[in-house]
Amino acid sequence: MSRRVIIDTDTAGDDTQAILMAVLADSLTVEALTVVAGNVEFDRQVENAKYTLDLAGVADEVPVHEGARSPLVKEFEHVPHVHGEGGLGGDLFPETGIDSARAYAPDAIVEAARDSPGEVSLLCIGPLTNVALALRREPALGDLLDSVYVMGGAVNTLGNDTPAAEFNFWVDPDAATVVVDDLDVTLVDWGLCVRQGTLDADDIAPFEAAETEYAEFFATIAEAPREFSRRQQGVDAVTQSDSIAAACLLEPDLIEGSGTYYVDVDEREGMTRGYSLVDELGVTDNEPGTRVVERIDGEQFYRTFSDMLLHGDPERSL
Ligand code: BDR
Ligand code: CA
Repeated sequence: MSRRVIIDTDTAGDDTQAILMAVLADSLTVEALTVVAGNVEFDRQVENAKYTLDLAGVADEVPVHEGARSPLVKEFEHVPHVHGEGGLGGDLFPETGIDSARAYAPDAIVEAARDSPGEVSLLCIGPLTNVALALRREPALGDLLDSVYVMGGAVNTLGNDTPAAEFNFWVDPDAATVVVDDLDVTLVDWGLCVRQGTLDADDIAPFEAAETEYAEFFATIAEAPREFSRRQQGVDAVTQSDSIAAACLLEPDLIEGSGTYYVDVDEREGMTRGYSLVDELGVTDNEPGTRVVERIDGEQFYRTFSDMLLHGDPERSL
């Protein structure tokens, strides 16, 4: 039986790959995409989302709902220096002509959850503003959802946006605080993604050699992040964080190690904005409520990713 999912996304490079993975998997039915302020200029993200659906041939089936154009409270900055101008590597600026769905994204999330209690999962791969707004509208959202997978935070490790914080949590720490507090979240953090979701030049080579549409799209979106990684760390690599979250939702057996901990997010402005406190040693006496993914089957993740790009079927070897 296929599981139903809404993907909440700030659609730039790695978001597109997570979306592709979910829409190409037979065991998932993507009900909608909801777009949230994050990686690049909002209207670009909306177009990037529609372009990705169109590439997979599902633009007619999956509505795109526009959501929050800014975080709940704070100012933020886009990251075109990571994903490229426009978010798709720097040279691709789709104009799909596809209409957005009418409902505001947080309303669409609430409506889907109320219509089918216990049946819809959320895959959150951007800042958590839309989800926090949905929670404001429906405080019982957690009871109405099947599961909630979040890519965000940096669990007792360096962040990517600041030394203290991962990008999604940094952009809207007020939303992240509410979401990890109120929902039963499975958290895929930046640390895990660096450890197990970093593709180096050898990993990428088969995709560059392939002539499939998806592999070519990956090569396009990977250009800017690879350049960023070369500049920043002297390594030719690209991290597929959002796809790890999608893969964990798609195939829960991919998760080889996890722990449930108390998690909180620093919503104060300042050098620790967006810092994710994860009480791995249980020193705070606060109730552990967030499942943190600590280890995945990295080889299986790479196979799933390759099967998606080379064969259009992420579940080929599952
Ligand atoms: C996260 O931030 C964004 O740049 C990526 O799309 C991913 O969701 C990684 O920190
Ligand atoms: Ca993202």
